[in-house]
Formats: sequence, C-alpha cells, structure tokens
Amino acid sequence: MKKIIIGNWKMYKTTSDINIFKSEFEMAIDSANINVEYGIAVPSIYLCKVIDIFRNNKNIKIYAQDAHYKEEGAYTGNISYKQLLDCNVYGSIIGHSERRAMFNDTDEEINKKVLALSRNDLSTILCVGETLLEYQNKISVSIVINQLKKALNSVMDNDVKNVIIAYEPIWAIGTGIVPKPEEVYLIIKEIRKTISELYNPKFGNSIKVLYGGSVNAKNINDFLKLNSISGFLVGSASLKGSDFAELLELGGKDA
Ligand code: PGA
Repeated sequence: MKKIIIGNWKMYKTTSDINIFKSEFEMAIDSANINVEYGIAVPSIYLCKVIDIFRNNKNIKIYAQDAHYKEEGAYTGNISYKQLLDCNVYGSIIGHSERRAMFNDTDEEINKKVLALSRNDLSTILCVGETLLEYQNKISVSIVINQLKKALNSVMDNDVKNVIIAYEPIWAIGTGIVPKPEEVYLIIKEIRKTISELYNPKFGNSIKVLYGGSVNAKNINDFLKLNSISGFLVGSASLKGSDFAELLELGGKDA
C-alpha cells in the first residue's frame, strides 16, 4: 500500500510564493522517484488557483484546511462542503489542533463536519492529538480515542472509508520535538483497535492513519519503520517545493 503524504500550508503563502513552490516542486519531482499518494491543504483563498496551476499534475490532491458542515448559509468567513465540491477540491482537514484551540472547534462541530464531508465523498483528514500536559500525565491514549469516537459519532461503515485519521500530538506540532516511534506505534494501534470495534473489524487494518508533528527529511525514516503507519501530515516541511518533493521521495522508500 502506498504511503500518503499531505502538506499543510496553514496561513502561509501568497501568489508569488505559490508560483515559486510550483516551479521548485516540479523541478525536484522531475528527477525523483515518487511512489506515494500526496496532496496539499492550501488556504481557502488559493484553492481554485492551486487546482488550476496543478491541472497537469493528476497525482496531487488539493485539500482545504477546514470546511463548514452546512451546505450554505449566513456563516461569514466560512466555506461549505458544497463549495469544495463545486471547485473540485479533493477533501479537507478537519479538527486540526490549531482550529480546536484558536477557533474553538468543538468535538460536536468536528463530528458534524466529518459527517457532511464523508457523506459527500470528500476525503476527510481528521486530526486528533493530546496536549503536552496530557502526554506528561500519560493519558494520551484516552484523550485521542475519546476525540476519535466523538468525531466519528454516527459516521456509517460506508462513509468511514473517506476518513483518514491524523494523529498529531499537539506538543510536536511546529516545535521540532517528536515523540518516540514506539509511542506513535502505540497510539496508532489503539486507533486501529477502536475502528475495528466501531466498524467492520477489517477496517481496523485498512483505515489510513497518518502521523503529524515536526516530520522532516531527517526523521521520516524513523516513523516509516512502523509498518502500521499509513503516511504523514506535514506542516513546515511542506512549504518549500524542493523540501516537500524530498519528503515524497523518502516516504516512498522502504524503511
Ligand atoms: P509541523 O505541522 O509539521 O510544522 O509540525 C504539522 C501540522 O500542523 O499538521
């Protein structure tokens, strides 16, 4: 099974940065052996533009960073899942810790977003992860599994196939600090176990579970050794075209 690597551009980049990314990225992948599925989650204002400039690259999947669960309505500043479908956006990140912490996205809203996206065949990257304090108190597993269960409430067997789970310990995001691979292994194991309890038991194996938090070209190989990992959600190391291409190449190699 090919690994999946998704870049998250957050609130970075302007038009000229995007053009530079594109040329650096294309130059780098031209001579590289890319054996992963990949995509980027771009700021909503550039979704159509990025889809357009990558129209000749059939492999790159363009994601939003969040989407509203309502089809339309008086929700100033939001974009709806219907608008994503209209613009051929492939899917969206949902429940990123920055949204949970800074924009008060609750478990209930995250659940509604997951339901709306997955029912409409949009790929959903559902982020879960514990704070540093929760990690230090050794309650990571229960925090993550609780977030997961709440986010997947009422999501049916048929729709859960559109959901990719991203385990992102909050203390590892943007800090350069990463958990030990065996700690990530344990959480992924619990996530898979929970999915097989909630759904068709076979889904525990087949569901995609990514790791995110300070992944870069230096540490990706340590995580690739975990055979239960399906790929990565990458912030800073996805901003430069050549860095991202390098990660894609490394991610497709056997650890
Ligand atoms: P990072 O971000 O790779 O810069 O730590 C990851 C994320 O926020 O998804």
